[in-house]
Amino acid sequence: TAPILISPSVLNADLANLTGEIGRIASADYVHLDVMDNHFVPNMTFGLPVVERILATTAVPADVHLMIDDPDTWAPAYAEAGAASVTFHAEAARAPVRLARELRAKGARASLALRPATGIENYLDLLPEFDMVLVMTVEPGFGGQSFITGTLPKIRRTRDAITRSGGDVWIQVDGGVSRETIADAAAAGANVFVAGSAVYSAADPAEEIAVLRGKATD
Ligand code: DX5
Ligand code: ZN
Repeated sequence: TAPILISPSVLNADLANLTGEIGRIASADYVHLDVMDNHFVPNMTFGLPVVERILATTAVPADVHLMIDDPDTWAPAYAEAGAASVTFHAEAARAPVRLARELRAKGARASLALRPATGIENYLDLLPEFDMVLVMTVEPGFGGQSFITGTLPKIRRTRDAITRSGGDVWIQVDGGVSRETIADAAAAGANVFVAGSAVYSAADPAEEIAVLRGKATD
């Protein structure tokens, strides 16, 4: 069975003090880095130079979420820089399988993201090409939005397909994940949990990570 993993997003952390902010979540399994280009989503964060510096200065493995146009061009550089996992969006990739193979060849886990309105059905036969599917549980672009419960059946269908195929693909959820919503996502079959505001608005982020882990495991 898939491991339960917590990946706090620094989107709503103090971006002027990323080293310190990542230090506060040292007990997490990953740090989730949201790259936005103001084209694929209506917001802009940071790109390759900043991610390269984070990778060089933190011990927490990086889970890079690319919300950008043209991931075919840009994603391999994040794998090359040492990201443990690189997620690109199905809606933006021209050749998702070619890109996934390139990411794996560079030593990263290859992950496919689906916006809330994008189905998994077209990708079911291709799941062995990926290490993870990210089912977005909000419209990508901003932290602090509320969890879209209508995405739960897609998580369930994806988990059922992975189980039937006998594969070992992780399912990540991202957006509105909190003490209130994480158990539903876990019950539907997710095993990797991104949490931005839930972790960074908590008085004690390490304690919040432990609570989330417990609620996902129950
Ligand atoms: C949103 C990003 C998320 C975001 C989640 O588009 O992909 O990773 O940081 O933030 P919360 O957990 O606050 O919804
Ligand atoms: Zn994200």
